[in-house]
Amino acid sequence: MNNQDIMAKGQQYVMNTYGRFPIAPVKGQGTYLWDADGKQYLDFVGGIAVCALGHSPQILVEALNRQAHELWHTSNLYWIQPQVELAEKLVKTSGLDKVFFCNSGAEANEAAIKLARKHFYRRGIEKNEIIVFNNSFHGRTLTTVSATGQKKYQEGFKPLCPGFIHTDFNDLAAVKKTISEKTAAIMVEPIQGEGGINPADGQFLLDLRKLCDDNDILLIFDEVQVGMGRTGFLFAYQGYDMAPDIVSLAKGLGGGFPIGAMLANAKAASGFAPGDHASTFGGNFLATAVGNQVISVLSQPEFLQDVQKKGEYLTVALGKIEDSRIQRVRGKGLILGVDFDREVKELINICMAKGLLVLSAGPHILRLVPPLTVSMAEIDQALALLKEALAEWQD
Ligand SMILES: Cc1ncc(COP(=O)(O)O)c(C=O)c1O
Repeated sequence: MNNQDIMAKGQQYVMNTYGRFPIAPVKGQGTYLWDADGKQYLDFVGGIAVCALGHSPQILVEALNRQAHELWHTSNLYWIQPQVELAEKLVKTSGLDKVFFCNSGAEANEAAIKLARKHFYRRGIEKNEIIVFNNSFHGRTLTTVSATGQKKYQEGFKPLCPGFIHTDFNDLAAVKKTISEKTAAIMVEPIQGEGGINPADGQFLLDLRKLCDDNDILLIFDEVQVGMGRTGFLFAYQGYDMAPDIVSLAKGLGGGFPIGAMLANAKAASGFAPGDHASTFGGNFLATAVGNQVISVLSQPEFLQDVQKKGEYLTVALGKIEDSRIQRVRGKGLILGVDFDREVKELINICMAKGLLVLSAGPHILRLVPPLTVSMAEIDQALALLKEALAEWQD
């Protein structure tokens, strides 16, 4: 089938929930993709910050094959060796104490929200409200869409899940005004991803930590998009001198195999007992066999330093592009946003026609989230294609 055939069948049979580009990638290797018509693309989308090690990396292909020949699934009625090993790696690298496995970012956040509420319930304290931020994104389940601070994701889904109080990002005074004796947790993205690659101030995160400590509130970091090496730190919070009580992960953790995780320190984790939360597929053999290999690579200090170096190089190069439509470049490591004074939809289409895949983060922000394994030469190639696209973009 060619692109057109796949698209026509998809439009007929697949539920109409995604605004898709008119191509169907069928093969990937490293930072490259090929569509069903044989056209090659340099992929700076990386499955939306998922394919941390690139497409079809040998190490993951082998891990998946090895595990596929042994055992796929037994359920969490029994102990699962690769799950236990991945939990150990996550605990040792995060400084947190316990891990719950699931299959996606929204599920990881659901688990975090449930844990925060149950933690106080078990202590006999009536706290169940979660403070969340305007412009945030936490997922598409009804609870995580309620936590999300963007109306467009909530429209038509009311009644929403109660108990989320929205306030302004990077505004400590606003947070202070919002907390009450009912506040169980504050949930924050260290960099708002879908909200436009909008980084939290380091001091704001440190202040939130203190505010939580002083008021017996749990601090939850949603690192679904920015965790797993994306910022040049394995966990984004490791770029600041602090740690949250709970952190949610997904995207990069499986390098493309669906997996999510919620990590918590011992204090927060004591909220859950057997029967409190579960997921049929959570942490199964295939997902965790892959996850073990992903984190073994991502947690190497040289790998993370390389991500920082490449991120700085790309940031500086983007900043030097002379185009009056560019307002500024923001982000950290290899999650970068170029803020334009107009919508970037057409620019993205031009890039795609030239063989460069990029995406948006809100209407005006061009988002670059390539595989963390991207080479300097590929970064240069992407910059050259982007400049060509900008020259052609008459908007
Ligand atoms: C910060 C953040 N949280 C949660 C999610 C939801 O993850 P998923 O689509 O895997 O449910 C996303 C997805 O983009 C995200 O960026």
